[in-house]
Amino acid sequence: MYNLYMGKTQNSIGIFDSGLGGLTILKEIRKAMPRENIIYFGDSAHVPYGSKSKETVSQFSLDIAKFLESKKVKLILVACNTASALALNTLQRHISVPILGVITPGAKAAIKTKNKNIFVIGTRATIKSEAYAKEIKKLNKQTNVKQIACPLFVPLIEEGLADDKITKLTIEKYLSEVKKFGPCTLILGCTHYPVIKKNIAKFLPKAVLVDSAKEITKEAKLLLEKENLLNKTGKGKIELFVSDSPKNFAELAKRILGFNLKAKEIRFYI
Ligand code: DGL
Repeated sequence: MYNLYMGKTQNSIGIFDSGLGGLTILKEIRKAMPRENIIYFGDSAHVPYGSKSKETVSQFSLDIAKFLESKKVKLILVACNTASALALNTLQRHISVPILGVITPGAKAAIKTKNKNIFVIGTRATIKSEAYAKEIKKLNKQTNVKQIACPLFVPLIEEGLADDKITKLTIEKYLSEVKKFGPCTLILGCTHYPVIKKNIAKFLPKAVLVDSAKEITKEAKLLLEKENLLNKTGKGKIELFVSDSPKNFAELAKRILGFNLKAKEIRFYI
């Protein structure tokens, strides 16, 4: 399917997402482990995953994971919540590199907040899979888990409207039920949601927000430390791949990362 680019970056952490939202995770990884080389793959030809079936998302995810495996990465992080919810088991069966998804770290962090009421927000596919709810219940049966699909957040963020009143109104529309609960925990179960975290926090001052990007980063660091696989010297490089034209890539990437990406870091192939 892909015309694989065989670059030189080895010993890297591979991160993939349906598109660019997963750069929220790349940003956290970079902050926590600046010496690590990162290969990021954004499946911009197939985004969004959030409205697709398990079969389709699993096939796309497997193609990408095989690509990352061919680049000899030491760890694969499934940044995409939808792919983590729908495809992680398939990936773990077919790929020999260690793979972490965002669901378990997010669920564990939510349990640690000790709130009895836990809300999960995500794409339609993530919510329909009940992956977070099942994982939370596995960890603690006593919790009360409610899920809300928030399909409008991704397009609003991608349009650069994170701070626009239309996004604030959408937050109100989707999350009024959460507000009624008062103290509770809310899992931001989608790559894009950290971008509107401040606005969500403003609307829900009593909720503890769990950011899955931060949680998977902690887990990844612990795993690499335990296996003695962390790079000890040097400054990590980033290689970025997208499966469709990188035309609108730079602008959105800057919005998420807060820094410009050099064009040479982007490889385009399909
Ligand atoms: N990356 C997806 C997720 O975290 C959001 C965008 C999409 O629907 O593909 O669920």
